[in-house]
Amino acid sequence: MSIPDGPPVISTARLRLRAPTLEDAPRIAALANDPGVARMTTRMPHPYGLSDAEAFLQACERRDVAKEHIFALDHDDEGLVGMLGFHPDDDGRVELGYWLGRPYWGQGLATEAASGALVWAGEGWRRRYLVAGHFADNPASGQVLCKTGFLYTGEVLPRHSLARGETAATRMMVWLA
Ligand SMILES: CC(C)(COP(=O)(O)OP(=O)(O)OC[C@H]1O[C@@H](n2cnc3c(N)ncnc32)[C@H](O)[C@@H]1OP(=O)(O)O)[C@@H](O)C(=O)NCCC(=O)NCCS
Repeated sequence: MSIPDGPPVISTARLRLRAPTLEDAPRIAALANDPGVARMTTRMPHPYGLSDAEAFLQACERRDVAKEHIFALDHDDEGLVGMLGFHPDDDGRVELGYWLGRPYWGQGLATEAASGALVWAGEGWRRRYLVAGHFADNPASGQVLCKTGFLYTGEVLPRHSLARGETAATRMMVWLA
């Protein structure tokens, strides 16, 4: 892991987590335009076009880096394979979220990305407490969160998914540094 003066860059065995740029828009749009990805998130629309990626990246550029960090996940051999972010929620907490393009599922990459990001969040960003939530019908994400040290709070909240067009039961989790 390296913590330069600018946006953080986090290196793991196969990935480099770095600040996204507008040039990432076509690749993000290509991977994100998948209902199996968007339906497991709260904020991604489906279909997901180039203009959605551009709007997302423009919003990234306006983010307050004291409160929010967003990383493109660059694979050593494949280029950008997904995204990961620490986002402020309505209650002033910081929430972890992530997605990978479907060709890259099942290789331990989400666990690797989240593990590296959490080391940085604790040691570099000095976060002591983070939250995450996964839809109850997304056990793979629950497994990623468990493997990276999150614990279930027992709270299950209805959260809206833009791609589903409705709320879905969301299992809430916490992580302590
Ligand atoms: C969820 C997601 C990030 C997982 O990425 P990934 O790189 O495949 O995850 P990993 O390989 O690191 O770990 C997945 C774990 O879930 C397990 N898993 C996969 N499908 C599962 C299922 N149906 N039930 C239970 N566990 C499952 C895997 O076995 C693996 O655990 P293991 O290493 O202990 O065997 C990816 O599928 C994705 O981007 N999905 C769409 C978006 C999304 O869900 N984002 C998260 C929102 S909370």
